[in-house]
Amino acid sequence: MPKIVVLAGSVRAGSWNEKLAAAAARALAEKGADVSHISLKDYALPLYDADLQTRSGVPDAAKRLVDLFLDHQGVFVASPEYNASFAPLLKNTFDWMSRENREGLPPLPAFKRRVFALGAVTSGAMGGYRGLTQLRQMMELGLGALVLPQMAVVPNAAEAFDEGGRFANPRTAGVFDAVLTSLLDVSERMA
Ligand SMILES: Cc1cc2nc3c(=O)[nH]c(=O)nc-3n(C[C@H](O)[C@H](O)[C@H](O)COP(=O)(O)O)c2cc1C
Repeated sequence: MPKIVVLAGSVRAGSWNEKLAAAAARALAEKGADVSHISLKDYALPLYDADLQTRSGVPDAAKRLVDLFLDHQGVFVASPEYNASFAPLLKNTFDWMSRENREGLPPLPAFKRRVFALGAVTSGAMGGYRGLTQLRQMMELGLGALVLPQMAVVPNAAEAFDEGGRFANPRTAGVFDAVLTSLLDVSERMA
């Protein structure tokens, strides 16, 4: 049974992307995964500052996140779109995590030997697709991560979910299911 981390790049009360993360956590668990659904609220980090790192090292929250990722084979990330890019909370969190190395493991250990799936939900018609292309670029080119080609993009947030937190649009539901099925499939091969 693969272990999957699920997180959203928003800690806003009522976040659409947290809703997407919750839907992913539920669906993955229904498919048999061992899911760790976390909130980045529990891993608060200062804005990255190289002088701060020199003075105090990598903060404990970033180390805990690295430990968590090392213990899982897959990660689902739901990101808000800000000005056609992805959430600064994710950039800052992954930047800090990228500064943590572990003896005996390759550089950027949290991002290697596991698979990532990306999703986004916005109130607009493009569903965060533009932001996810940039998140993908950072993860693949910057962090050396394996990122699934298909992404769970959810437009028109206000109409996207039914009362049970499931997708109202069958096409959106189908893409979402395909992304999660691939995430499980590839995660199993990482185990
Ligand atoms: C600074 C800022 C920039 C934004 N830029 C975009 C954008 O480029 N495209 C878009 O669809 N929505 C944009 N939005 C709207 C967000 O998609 C919306 O606030 C969304 O609810 C944020 O995600 P969350 O609900 O998970 O917190 C922007 C919001 C903010 C605060």
